[in-house]
Amino acid sequence: MNRELGVNSSRLLARLDELAQFGAMQGGGITRLALSDADRDARDRFVSWLEALGLAVYVDAIGNILGFRPGGEDLAPVLFGSHLDTVRDAGRFDGAYGVLAALEVLETLIEVGLETRRPLAVVAFTNEEGVRFPTDMLGSNVYSGALSLEEAYAVPGFDGLTVGDELRRIGYAGEFPPGALKPYAYVELHIEQGPILDRSSIPIGVVETVTGISWKELTICGAANHAGTTPMDGRRDAGLAAARIITGLRQLTLDLGGDQRATCGMLSLEPGAVNVIPGRAVLTVDLRNGDESTLEEAERRLAGLVAEVAQQEGVTITARKLARVRAVAFNPMVPAAVEAAAADLHLASLRMGSGAGHDAQVMAGLCPAGMVFIPSRDGISHSPHEYSSPEALAAGANVLLRTVMKLAE
Ligand code: HGY
Ligand code: MN
Ligand code: MN
Repeated sequence: MNRELGVNSSRLLARLDELAQFGAMQGGGITRLALSDADRDARDRFVSWLEALGLAVYVDAIGNILGFRPGGEDLAPVLFGSHLDTVRDAGRFDGAYGVLAALEVLETLIEVGLETRRPLAVVAFTNEEGVRFPTDMLGSNVYSGALSLEEAYAVPGFDGLTVGDELRRIGYAGEFPPGALKPYAYVELHIEQGPILDRSSIPIGVVETVTGISWKELTICGAANHAGTTPMDGRRDAGLAAARIITGLRQLTLDLGGDQRATCGMLSLEPGAVNVIPGRAVLTVDLRNGDESTLEEAERRLAGLVAEVAQQEGVTITARKLARVRAVAFNPMVPAAVEAAAADLHLASLRMGSGAGHDAQVMAGLCPAGMVFIPSRDGISHSPHEYSSPEALAAGANVLLRTVMKLAE
């Protein structure tokens, strides 16, 4: 493999800038929620780049976008990519970097006329984040067969619209059957979104494991009442119950220790008036653990906390599962290829786990999968302050290039 083969990093950076305009907000953040107009515009731009390369482009029935390049032999392809949707007020790298670096890898190989033995396919998965339609990694779950198309279409968004409605509205309910292109392996390049690589000044992360994720929505029903005339005892205060659950989450992580994490990211109180005791509260809980059995224990403890608070505060609490993804350990093949690719480029690498969820952990149920991480400055992500340097972005793309080439031979 010739030493000087490398991606065109200025082209990659320019495309990252261009894609960042879709969903750009005043304060510098990006909100490109799945199946929104901004998501549609980013998808359209990505498809136009794929078509300009002369690639066969497929949009599957859940809106996953595939760009396919034949190989020397008609074998199962190496699939690589990420997602284009973002969280609210996001940075510009989470997801988009992995998709655009995958495009850059293909363009580089086409430019130098280098044909791989296996076919190559780049992918942008639908709704990885799950912020608007809370089943995260929706596109990869349908692709891998973990979720049926019917279930996926029916997923209701927090805005009341369904995945199917919005997919059709933006014109991305494709014809291609999800999962019809069965990959030999899947690789995802992504920013770390945590502090490990940045703190250790190591340029490449070789991801071996990805955390399990459990999302629940809790609806608390109490009794709205007058804030002044209602004595403190005997209230059925949905807001207080929500607060007790949120502080109970902190205690749950202290009790379990390790890498247990718990977050309440969404909270609404009704009727939402300064002088009315909230009669209703809706909140979300995000539990994470790299160990599947500990995550199940955390779910059990959450159920116990909910029952205790309901009983003590005189409210009823119903739980709705929003998402559940198992912790995974990748098949060693792809991490080994990533590590070897970094070594070829004389880049130090670190084997590590991911505290963020990714499509790669879902694809690991379908084929050998793995990830390449690059450092995030101060470990910040899901924030406009998300930043990775141009050098780090280029290094990651070059490691992806060589990883893909290794797997494709
Ligand atoms: O939630 C996550 O970990 C990922 O950003 N979807
Ligand atoms: Mn991501
Ligand atoms: Mn994310």
